[in-house]
Amino acid sequence: MSIADKSQALIIIDSVSKKYPHSAKEEWALREVSLSIDYGEMVAIRGTSGSGKTTLLNLIGGLDYRFEGVLTVGGRSMIEQSERDRSSARNQEIGFVFQHFSLLDHLTVLDNVLLPAVLAPPEIGRERAREILKDPQERALALLKRVGLSSKSHVSPTSLSGGQKQRVAIARALFFEPPLLLCDEPTGSLDTHTGQQIIELFQELHQEGYTVVMITHEDRVSHAAQRVIELEDGKIISDIQRSDTPAEVEP
Ligand SMILES: Nc1ncnc2c1ncn2[C@@H]1O[C@H](COP(=O)(O)OP(=O)(O)OP(=O)(O)O)[C@@H](O)[C@H]1O
Ligand SMILES: [Mg+2]
Repeated sequence: MSIADKSQALIIIDSVSKKYPHSAKEEWALREVSLSIDYGEMVAIRGTSGSGKTTLLNLIGGLDYRFEGVLTVGGRSMIEQSERDRSSARNQEIGFVFQHFSLLDHLTVLDNVLLPAVLAPPEIGRERAREILKDPQERALALLKRVGLSSKSHVSPTSLSGGQKQRVAIARALFFEPPLLLCDEPTGSLDTHTGQQIIELFQELHQEGYTVVMITHEDRVSHAAQRVIELEDGKIISDIQRSDTPAEVEP
């Protein structure tokens, strides 16, 4: 299975509502959200704390499939897939980047980037993924070079700065060259200068054709996106296309 059907939008969300079990009766984390995101877009999702941003990202990424409505990624329903297909999509077709990097400290930097290969099933479906798996180490080293961390491949992530850790997390997210990158406050733990470098890296990836969806609280991050979606109380309150070319990001 792979994201291949480009005749429709990459992400289609139609009347999606989500209520967590045990939450209060009328407490919906998402209320009838509808939107679509095309291949190659760079989208920022904003909103106050508790507005539903992470919930929405988790549904898109197949981390949570208990919701009402229709949500397809690459033409495939996130509800109707088997858990096996969903986890394969998460591993090979979607790259996740989180605020706190989620690296494994007992592994080297290189082995962290190699994790998707370790987690991939032996009979992998996507052709590009099979190609990458012929020499996973070469792929991981090339990605570390790409993010400027060649010299750090054999150290523990504990010896890295925040920005370097986030670069490792991005290299790992890119391992199988997934068309879609989902990022939950990727600069939230970084200082201004380091955050700026990470934004520039996402802009480069966007220019190379990756679809980037990122949650952020920061103006400079949403300024880097072409489109800004704002959530409030589980609903979309604005969806603004900024321009075709991303604005210069102020340091
Ligand atoms: N696991 C959970 N169980 C119950 N309720 C949850 C759970 N996760 C989130 N919620 C609730 O769903 C709503 C949306 O939460 P969500 O985490 O999506 O917000 P957010 O916009 O990402 O906020 P933040 O900016 O603080 O990360 C909130 O009311 C929250 O309390
Ligand atoms: Mg959140």
